[in-house]
Order: sequence, then C-alpha cells, then structure tokens
Amino acid sequence: MSSVLNLSPRLEAVVDLCPKAKVIADIGCDHGLVTAELVLQDKTEEVIATEKSAQCLNKAVSLADSINILQFVSFREGDGFEPTTKHDKIKVAIIAGMGGDEIIKILENKPKKLYDFVLQPMKDAPKLREYLVSHGFKILVDKLVREDNRFYDVIRVTKGKDNLNELELIFGKTNFTDNYEVFYEYLIARQKQLADFKAQVGALASKLQFEYNKIGEALSLFEEQAEN
Ligand SMILES: C[S@@+](CC[C@H](N)C(=O)[O-])C[C@H]1O[C@@H](n2cnc3c(N)ncnc32)[C@H](O)[C@@H]1O
Repeated sequence: MSSVLNLSPRLEAVVDLCPKAKVIADIGCDHGLVTAELVLQDKTEEVIATEKSAQCLNKAVSLADSINILQFVSFREGDGFEPTTKHDKIKVAIIAGMGGDEIIKILENKPKKLYDFVLQPMKDAPKLREYLVSHGFKILVDKLVREDNRFYDVIRVTKGKDNLNELELIFGKTNFTDNYEVFYEYLIARQKQLADFKAQVGALASKLQFEYNKIGEALSLFEEQAEN
C-alpha cells in the first residue's frame, strides 16, 4: 500500500512486509520514518525504536513529536537489542539500512524467542541469507525493490527451516518466483555495469567475475522459464 508519510520505495517495502503486531522494534531507527509509519498505519500498539547514535535518535523523537505520536513509541539509545528486555515482549523487529555484517551482529544478540524480522541489508545480502538459513530462520519473502537506479533487498523471515540453492542464496529466493520484472531489470543492469567495468579495466577481480557468471546463470534460468 502507499504510505502515509510518502516513504521511498525501499522504506515502503520494509513497512509493507512488516506484519501487524502488538510490539514492533525498529532497530537503528535513525530518521524515525519507519517507526512513525508503523504507528500511522495502525500496524502496532507500540514501537520500540532503538539507535546507537543519540543524534539520530533525536531525529526520530522530533518526527514523532511533530506528528503527535510520542505516546506510541519508546525511544532507547544503545546497540542493537541491548536497550530492550524480555519484558518488552517484542513480536517483530525491523533492521533496515545497514550492512549484512552489522545485521548479523545484531541478530547474534536478539531476544531468544524472536524470529520474526524484516531485514534490509545495504550490502552482503548473500552472507546474511547464509546466516539466516543456518540459524533457524525461514525466508518468507525476499525481494528486490527498485528506487531510481538502485536496487535494495528486503527480506521477511520467521522461524523455520529453509533450503536455498546457490542462486537463491546469491539473489534472493522469491525474486525467482514472483518478482520477475524488477529482478530481471536488476540482472540486466548489473550485468551491464560489470561488463562496462571489465571493458575499462581488462579483467574483473575474482569475486566480481563470479557474480558476473552467476548473473549469466540466473538470466539463462529466466529464458528457460519463459520458453516453457
Ligand atoms: C543508514 S541508517 C538506516 C535508518 C533506517 N533504518 C532506514 O532503513 O532508513 C542506519 C542507522 O542504524 C544505526 N545503527 C547502525 N548499527 C546499529 C546498531 N548496532 N544498533 C543500533 N543502531 C545502529 C545508525 O546509527 C544509523 O542511524
């Protein structure tokens, strides 16, 4: 759905993939847009908004104050889940706009029973997926979102077992099943970017060459699917 605060496509997808829940944590809330949108869309009775930077947390407080929703948000300064306790009874948490490594670090210290998350890694998504499937998470939705010329992974997980093949680990499971248009645009754009870079520098570093090859495999899969 479109957002009350007119969010960017990335943040709109983060909020859309977040289920309704009594208490939602927004870890690394920064500007507070996601926190505020969750309240305005009536997705929750309480948001626990955490931030390791006091300056960023203040931005979220100011936004909530300006739209009169302070009573629905508990603002906490600190690293990841550190400023939360089991008495908060967090049902779902959002960790968006950070690198995959930072998200993994935060998940390592999550509340024990909490498995419902919306994750939005800015890089290292394959590493995050490997972590998720080897730590008791099941990926429900994992889709690319386009914002101008950038593409973002948005991943909704819950508790369970998952088994991803190599291409799903690299590119995201549900991109292959129900996000064809954006995913295809991404593959073509990234293939061109890497090909142009290769033309400039002569040869790609092994990590980029690997990615280039896997993009080729993913595109071949698309062509096969289109023929059938
Ligand atoms: C780029 S902003 C993203 C903000 C928002 N979540 C979004 O997706 O637009 C990342 C924010 O996460 C905060 N952050 C990074 N690591 C954190 C951690 N371990 N615990 C709490 N906040 C963290 C940063 O201070 C920063 O404000």
